[in-house]
Amino acid sequence: MTPFDRKSLIVLLAVLGAILGNVAAALAEPPPAFEGRRLFVSYCQLCHGKMGKGDGPLAKQMGITPSDLTTTVRSRSDTILKKIITGDGPQTITGRARHNILSEAMPEWVNVFKAEQVDALIAYLRFLSTSKHPMMGDPEVGYKLYTKYCTVCHGEEGEGDGVMTKMIKINPADHSNANEMDPLSNQDLVYSIVNGKSQFMPAWEDTLNPSEVEALVSYIRLLSN
Ligand code: HEC
Ligand code: HEC
Repeated sequence: MTPFDRKSLIVLLAVLGAILGNVAAALAEPPPAFEGRRLFVSYCQLCHGKMGKGDGPLAKQMGITPSDLTTTVRSRSDTILKKIITGDGPQTITGRARHNILSEAMPEWVNVFKAEQVDALIAYLRFLSTSKHPMMGDPEVGYKLYTKYCTVCHGEEGEGDGVMTKMIKINPADHSNANEMDPLSNQDLVYSIVNGKSQFMPAWEDTLNPSEVEALVSYIRLLSN
C-alpha cells in the first residue's frame, strides 16, 4: 500500500470544499461561548477589559473598579449571573434587592439582550474563568477558516462528525470535548495543524499562515466551552 499523500488530500478537500462550502457556511452555528465573546467585545470589554480582568479603558475613565470576572464568576450560579447581568428581579434567593450584591456602576441589561444572548454571555464568562489557555489569535478569523477548511471532517460543532467521516474511515478529534482538549497546550494544537497528525489529519502549513493557525486555535478553545 502506498503511503497516503497529504498533498492530494488537500486537493481533494479543496474540490469537496467548493461543492460543500455553501452548504457548510449556511449550516454552521457558532458555539455559545463564541457568540458570547462577540457580545462581550461590544458591550462589556469597555469596563471589564479584554480578558475580563476589570481593566477596561472606560473603567479607568469612570474611576470604577469592575470585578475580575476570571475569579468572581466561578462561585456564581447561572441563575445569579443571569440576574446580575440583566439586573432583573431580586438578586439573591433570599430576595434582597440587587444592589446588595452589586454597586450601581454595573449597568442593567434587561432590555438589551434576549435570553439566548444572556446564556451566550454566561458561556463566555465561564470560558474566561476556567480556560487555562491564553487566547492566541482572533477567533472571528478562526471561525471563518474552520467553516471553510475543517468542518468537512471535524463537523459543524467540532464534534468530529463531519461529512467526510461518512466517506472515509477517519476518526477526527472531538474539539467540543473539554476533557480531550484541555490537556493539550496551544503549542500542541499549533503543531498538529501545521504538521498534520497520523494518516488523515492534513498538514496545513502550505495553506495557512501562522496568524491564521493561531486564530484557529482560539476558535477551537471556544468550541469546548
Ligand atoms: C460601565 C461599566 C460596565 C459595563 C459596560 C459592564 N460592567 Fe459588569 N460590572 C461593572 C462593575 C463596576 C462591577 C462591579 C460591581 C460591584 O462589585 O459592586 C461589575 C460587575 C459585574 C459582574 C459581577 C461579578 C461578580 O461575580 O461579582 C458581572 C457578572 C458582570 N459585571 C458582567 C458584565 C457583563 C456580561 C457585561 C456586558 C454585557 C458588563 N458586565 C458590562 C461595570 C460594568
Ligand atoms: C480530512 C479530514 C480532516 C480535516 C479536513 C481536518 N482534520 Fe483535523 N484531524 C483529523 C483527524 C482524523 C484527526 C485525529 C488524528 C489522530 O488523532 O490521529 C485530527 C486531529 C486534529 C487535531 C489534533 C487534536 C489532537 O488530538 O491532537 C487538531 C488540532 C486538528 N485536527 C485541527 C484541525 C483544523 C484546525 C483543521 C482545519 C484547518 C482540520 N483539523 C482539518 C481530520 C481532519
